[in-house]
Amino acid sequence: MNDHYPFVNTPLPYPYDALEPYIDQKTMKLHHDRHLQTYVDQLNAVLKDYPQLHQWTLHQLLTNIDYLPAEIQIPVRNNAGGVYSHRLYFCGMKKASIRSMNGNLERAMDYAYGGIHKFQEAMKEAGLSVFGSGYAWLVVNRSGQLTIMTTPNQDTPLSVGLCPIMNVDVWEHAYYLKNYNKRAEYIDHWLSVINWEEAEKNYQRCFEEE
Ligand SMILES: [Fe+2]
Repeated sequence: MNDHYPFVNTPLPYPYDALEPYIDQKTMKLHHDRHLQTYVDQLNAVLKDYPQLHQWTLHQLLTNIDYLPAEIQIPVRNNAGGVYSHRLYFCGMKKASIRSMNGNLERAMDYAYGGIHKFQEAMKEAGLSVFGSGYAWLVVNRSGQLTIMTTPNQDTPLSVGLCPIMNVDVWEHAYYLKNYNKRAEYIDHWLSVINWEEAEKNYQRCFEEE
């Protein structure tokens, strides 16, 4: 996968209707093909005249925002953030199935939250607490512990040195067609389609990078 300029909109790792009946096909198609595509296009447009950044990965761009030319810091934050956050979100879901997780992440969740169900409640509460548009995230903090946090707009935890494991997009475009203004209903549906294997892999990766 080309993880530097020019960025491309990688296809969903499953069909548009794979998350039905929890997340509908029309929302998935619009969300991936229009909303995410726009962030990809805008990021490429921002970087076009900065060849010194053409080999930088999304991760590098987002962890070094303060070192970028001042005039592109905000558009990179918004658009590289939009690409990164959406990729994590889309890859973090899969067709609803029996949860098969018995690895280190599950043990860490037991320790931090007292079990998966308590974690799910906390994640839902965080998603509901976002005022306006943004995300709720599960991250590994600098001490190696699990933490739930929220970010506004397309800001990512990478920019403050944290390692993301999963996120839920609570922008209205993620759910308005199906759930209208009922964000709680949408988050419940998202909780049903979490890709736990992907979350476990992301969790392991947080410790490999350190
Ligand atoms: Fe989104």
